[in-house]
Amino acid sequence: MKKEAYQILTEKEIYRGNLILVNEKFGIRADESIRLAEAAPNVFLQHEAAHFLKEALKKIKAEDSIALVSGFRSRREQSEIYKMSLSENGEAFTRQYVALPDHSEHQTGLAIDLALKSDDIDFIRPDFPFEGICQRFREIAAEYGFIQRYPKEKENITGIAFEPWHFRYVGKPHAEIMERYGLTLEEYTDLVKDYDSFNRLKLNGDSAEEVFYIEFGLQSGEMKIPVSEKESCTVSGDNRGGFIVTVTKFERT
Ligand code: DAL
Ligand code: ZN
Repeated sequence: MKKEAYQILTEKEIYRGNLILVNEKFGIRADESIRLAEAAPNVFLQHEAAHFLKEALKKIKAEDSIALVSGFRSRREQSEIYKMSLSENGEAFTRQYVALPDHSEHQTGLAIDLALKSDDIDFIRPDFPFEGICQRFREIAAEYGFIQRYPKEKENITGIAFEPWHFRYVGKPHAEIMERYGLTLEEYTDLVKDYDSFNRLKLNGDSAEEVFYIEFGLQSGEMKIPVSEKESCTVSGDNRGGFIVTVTKFERT
């Protein structure tokens, strides 16, 4: 007989996890403090994101040539940056390049701005060229779970101008599929909604990893996710109203 295990999810988990969508429309809703680790002196990220960023930089020996400009920001810091940019750069610029307080994914501890190291780094629009060591980082970023969050020609979807320096941690299988199909986080979190536990999105050819979506039931205070004993799963909220479940199979079926 097939044994089943369950993972219990409560509503507040909609608002946390590697795949939460934070943008103009969906603000930060998490009410708990997040656990941060120092990715570089005075630059903090969530633990897993800090770990994989450091691994990626080590892999391409970029520790001395790529600077970590801005990681986690508190609400107050985001607010100060917004006000400073308004007075220095004006409203049109600021709306394109700085998210409103509570609508910046820097407040999640999952976003990082990178720059080519120099004595004169622009804090809001750091230089991260499409050549040399920076391009090398871009090429391996998805393998380490990072996406370019604000691509060119998707400004109408993300609500933010092209930001080649801003990377967002989403976790490896998701980053790879988003890169392969050229999807923003808005588009990816839309796409996964078409899949459920019976009809899963297969991330790799061998289907060792699969993804599906569960909408949070409005009536129930908690939800159960069935997990087979041959699978492990991680769950992230989408910050929109449900959960994205990533399943890893121990054995191929
Ligand atoms: N620069 C990005 C959009 C932020 O302020 O969060
Ligand atoms: Zn940024």
